[in-house]
Amino acid sequence: MNLNLYPERMKPSLAYRIGYGEDAHRLAAGLPLVLGGVAIPHAEQGAVAHSDGDAVLHAVADALLSGLALGDIGQYFPDTAAEWKGLDSRLILARALELVRERGYQPVNVALVVTLDRPRLGPLRAEIARTVAGLLGLPETEVGVSFKTSEGLAPEHVQTRVTVLLERADA
Ligand code: C5P
Ligand code: MG
Repeated sequence: MNLNLYPERMKPSLAYRIGYGEDAHRLAAGLPLVLGGVAIPHAEQGAVAHSDGDAVLHAVADALLSGLALGDIGQYFPDTAAEWKGLDSRLILARALELVRERGYQPVNVALVVTLDRPRLGPLRAEIARTVAGLLGLPETEVGVSFKTSEGLAPEHVQTRVTVLLERADA
């Protein structure tokens, strides 16, 4: 029996790997809201978190790790550890990126979705794309940024979902 169902050029290839990450934080008045490394002006509520609560960077970091089955950021930065209190999420992302690079891979493009009722983030789309891209060493055209409301279902939450494509550096 011939089990080689794919022509050579269609064979699934480990040169590319997909990663997916999610994050959510509760929102409360009087706290800063940081998303994708950008401080959101005029936010009435900010993230309740052990770190700086940047739900975009947390999901991007998890997406990077998941693409290579490296677990999730909680394993590297336990949210019970006093030393990670108030942690700048850019450091979390930098560590995840380092782990990916150590294994010979690099991100190609990122698609991220932020679900948040208020404030409107549309005016910050380019800045968030530019900032996330900069942290990943990518051109900003490789970071797609979408916003959704929860239609009032979760007005006190921010939710993020991120896919990333990884490419083996020698591919
Ligand atoms: O989720 P919904 O379909 O209602 O979003 C409608 C529009 O509002 C989208 O174009 C989206 O980019 C924008 N939006 C935004 N800021 C948010 C949520 C949605 O600019 N916090
Ligand atoms: Mg988080």
